[in-house]
Amino acid sequence: MSEQSMANVPATDDAQWWRSAVVYQVYPRSFSDLSGDGVGDLAGLIDKLGYLELLGVDAIWLSPIMRSPMADHGYDVSDPRAIDPLFGDLDTFDELIRQAHDRDIRVTMDLVPNHTSDQHPWFSGALGAAPGSPERERYIFADGRGDDGELPPNNWTSVFGGPAWTRIVEPDGRPGQWYLHLFAPEQPDLNWNNPEVLADLQTTMRFWLDRGIDGFRIDVAHGMAKPDGLPDLEHPAEVLLHSDDDPRFNNEAVHDIHRAIRSVMDEYPGTFNVGEVWVRSNEAFSRYVRPDELHLGFNFRLATAGFDADEIKEAITESLAATASVGAVPTWTLSNHDVPREVTRYQPTGEAADGRTPDDLLAIGTIRARAMIMVELALPGTVFIYNGAELGLPNVDLPDDALVDPVWENSGHTDRGRDGCRVPLPWEGTEPPFGFSSRSDTWLPIPADWAALTVESQLEDIYSMLSLYRQAIELRYARPEFSGDTVQWYGAPEGCLAFRRPGGLICALNASDRPVPLPPGQILLVSTPLEGGLLLPGAAAWLV
Ligand code: GLC
Repeated sequence: MSEQSMANVPATDDAQWWRSAVVYQVYPRSFSDLSGDGVGDLAGLIDKLGYLELLGVDAIWLSPIMRSPMADHGYDVSDPRAIDPLFGDLDTFDELIRQAHDRDIRVTMDLVPNHTSDQHPWFSGALGAAPGSPERERYIFADGRGDDGELPPNNWTSVFGGPAWTRIVEPDGRPGQWYLHLFAPEQPDLNWNNPEVLADLQTTMRFWLDRGIDGFRIDVAHGMAKPDGLPDLEHPAEVLLHSDDDPRFNNEAVHDIHRAIRSVMDEYPGTFNVGEVWVRSNEAFSRYVRPDELHLGFNFRLATAGFDADEIKEAITESLAATASVGAVPTWTLSNHDVPREVTRYQPTGEAADGRTPDDLLAIGTIRARAMIMVELALPGTVFIYNGAELGLPNVDLPDDALVDPVWENSGHTDRGRDGCRVPLPWEGTEPPFGFSSRSDTWLPIPADWAALTVESQLEDIYSMLSLYRQAIELRYARPEFSGDTVQWYGAPEGCLAFRRPGGLICALNASDRPVPLPPGQILLVSTPLEGGLLLPGAAAWLV
């Protein structure tokens, strides 16, 4: 039996509620549409707060709702201190905070500090100003290489595919400088060497914190700082992926930025930041969650591990180690708006899928996703649930003409992008749009075969994914056995894993292909009914 612990963790007090919280990610376009334009909105979210209370979550994280031309569905912000009219207005936002707080649900929101929209007044100003002007200095403009500057300043590619540089036409009509965009050309990177950029972010943070927001999810929190001299990439990077030594990300100066962000958060006790930190090494990760930087960092190991006991155990062990060294809190997430949904991710592929129908594969993916939410909720730390996971939604294979993620166009149609995990939620009824909207042509089409996955059909079914989530979240709160910040690993049959929390909770997962006996104890919850007292393949159990 080995033991891992989160060192120096003080006892949870109310200002640190987020240390063991369940946070529900709302992708606003896809949650609930009350205005009837086929896109979700804040009024729709307010309308469904009762549902979130029933689910039992502590907080929501709203993907961006600021004013945006929507080139990257809100991650291209043209006014960081306004609500986009597609989603509502500041009054609706204030009402959301008020009603959510009345229900004891905290509200956190995305902040996008790495880049702005190309429609942000700063960027229009930069285009209209001369090279080297203060307006240009807010972004990363550079002269091109080659005799006439016709080649980009370096070989960086965009995360969405294609070059990370776009050449502009100067105010005098001549081809001119290039600007950097790690994402779409409509998302120019800010120059974080310019103090104006930090000052503006701090103004934005206070703007929302003063309205009562409880925290932020920091987009591309390992981005922002760029290395001196902008050295070339040594290896070509794949679309949507990068390694730890990629010069585009994870540069040392980013930690100064996080300290400056944290200093604002510390003015507002009880709030927290969680950063999107796509770094693999534990040492590099831990630096982001030192006591004066981010409160929490997304660790994506579990979201990228397959349904395999060794991989899952390693993801857990490494995620705990990445926070323990600095006394930080681990986070757990199985999916989000950038990552394939777990029901799809856990489906067998290759030889293991041979001879199985798509329905069989979906059933297996669903069984495994049920088990994995139990594994996740059994762990110490903060759990993030992506909207629709609680309904067991799979990814959707959308037709080419429905795809709207900029990744599809920017990758030259080589990567289908992330639309498949962003399809609107089914609420009720028997046909699309399943109560999501009054309009049938929703921004992404909802599959007709989601009738059995609606909230309405799952609420009353005690065996549904939704009921499992509700029971598991409730037990996690109510039972003292979930206490303690450590995980002790048990011996388990091959292909399985089992761990124990100091409070006495035991979580067992059968990722093998045969039924296995359970560890001793009294059963608290199972993801799939036992057969002959045995834990079935793909199932998990909680025991005390
Ligand atoms: C983050 C977001 C993603 C967005 C990108 C650019 O990775 O999660 O959805 O496209 O940043 O802002």
